[in-house]
Amino acid sequence: MTSPLLEVRGACKRFPGVVALDTVSLHVNAGEVLALVGENGAGKSTLMKILAGVYQPDDGQMFLDGQPVKFAGVNDAMAAGISLIHQELNLAENLGAAANIFLGREKLAFGGLLKNAEMAEITREFLTRVGLSADLVHVPVGRLAPGQKQLVEIARALSLKARVIIMDEPTSSLTQRETDRLYEVIDGLRASGVAIIYITHRMAEIKRLADRVTVFRDGKNSGELAKAEITHGAMVRLMVGRDLKHAYPRTENRTKTPVPVLEVRNVRYRGGPVEGVSFKIFGGEIVGMAGLVGAGRTELAEALFGLRPITGGEVLIDGHPIAIHHPKDAVKAGLLMAPEDRRLNGLVLEKSVGFNFSLPNMDLLSRNLLVKTREERTTGLDLIQRLRVKTPSLSQVVGLLSGGNQQKVVLGKWLARKHRVLILDEPTRGVDVGARSEIYALMDQLALEGVAVWMISSDLEEVLGMSDRVLVLHEGKLAGELPRAGLSEQVVMNLATGSKEDLAAK
Ligand SMILES: Nc1ncnc2c1ncn2[C@@H]1O[C@H](COP(=O)(O)OP(=O)(O)OP(=O)(O)O)[C@@H](O)[C@H]1O
Ligand SMILES: [Mg+2]
Repeated sequence: MTSPLLEVRGACKRFPGVVALDTVSLHVNAGEVLALVGENGAGKSTLMKILAGVYQPDDGQMFLDGQPVKFAGVNDAMAAGISLIHQELNLAENLGAAANIFLGREKLAFGGLLKNAEMAEITREFLTRVGLSADLVHVPVGRLAPGQKQLVEIARALSLKARVIIMDEPTSSLTQRETDRLYEVIDGLRASGVAIIYITHRMAEIKRLADRVTVFRDGKNSGELAKAEITHGAMVRLMVGRDLKHAYPRTENRTKTPVPVLEVRNVRYRGGPVEGVSFKIFGGEIVGMAGLVGAGRTELAEALFGLRPITGGEVLIDGHPIAIHHPKDAVKAGLLMAPEDRRLNGLVLEKSVGFNFSLPNMDLLSRNLLVKTREERTTGLDLIQRLRVKTPSLSQVVGLLSGGNQQKVVLGKWLARKHRVLILDEPTRGVDVGARSEIYALMDQLALEGVAVWMISSDLEEVLGMSDRVLVLHEGKLAGELPRAGLSEQVVMNLATGSKEDLAAK
């Protein structure tokens, strides 16, 4: 029998207070897509960093083509043909795609100095392959959208001619079209014999892509599924260790407030469409806002939260008009927003979990700045338990938590407080399936308490699963409103893409 292209046996890795990996094993064959799944903090990214030479394992062995190998650093792994596309993107923001793609390896690839024109030409080719415009070749990467940055990272991996490409949650910020393009790229790589390790929390992707699934739980192997065995239930059981009762826990027919808690009348804002936007959300309701990435959902929410100047119209909370010029005004009126890019806007990475739990209050209201009350501690510990945040303690630095656990920290805090209106922008991106249903349960609880919950989401399944009503945005404008009874993926997608027929049919 031929040996796997890449194999790791008995890998161990400890960090202060955390056993990230406890004798895990994994292998991937040429021409195979291996999906690696597991709860947030299960050790997926840590093992990938070991394979890519970023970390040294405390114990364990690696084999390439059956031969033992050791990587002292990323350059060793790269030379051996292993390329990692990080979960947290890893590009120099002030440089263009070409400079990023060739950064630090001009000699490695071509045995001498490269002319700029030549680098640009090669870069254009790879940009086109991943579906990006070749014109982006010199645009500073910092100016690109998150999805475009991700594709530049993928272009870089392709240009390395890697034999093993590791993708750590590559589609988390891609649009549907970009995602489809990536799937095609992956199909092509597989056909050409490249081995791919693919990490994701999206079950649908695994069914589409994976030839085999390896599951981690708490730093250990918890099982493996062959292609024919890949089902949602089987993966969840191996990941969480139990069945999840309700994927979408929600109370039917919650009591709605007589007056809308949030009413938006003809609101216009800087960067928005010319016509105003109008809609209402009642207390007790979870309203999903769907639309394509770039439809303007975040911008609208930012305007109402005081992050973007409102240029016309009226905002009413509990029937009273309010003026919003600054997030402070919104918070004072009881409107809060958990932002989409929590790494940028929601977290202080170098501070503790406990500090960040307290953040929604502190930075906005600047009250009790240094007071860490017993209540805060209790809430913090409760959230850690409910959302299964994997952290050694409340005092752990947030930046050291795994990607999904960072998400849980900020989100949990917003959900633990009672407001009038809560805007959740992509609340479950990067969050594992178990914690997802806890987040939904917290949303449902808030709605039961009379809060108006406004959930912006690109995850159609969750929009259909949790919303009492769905608003669809298309090019900044409301393209339609759908009651729960009339919801289907098709109808939402038609509205989101601006299909005229369905607008007429509505
Ligand atoms: N540099 C570090 N210092 C301390 N702890 C760390 C460090 N890197 C990772 N950890 C911890 O190791 C564990 C595994 O983290 P890892 O990032 O591998 O999880 P993951 O499976 O990728 O999770 P996610 O789905 O959230 O991305 C976590 O408890 C994490 O907090
Ligand atoms: Mg990770």
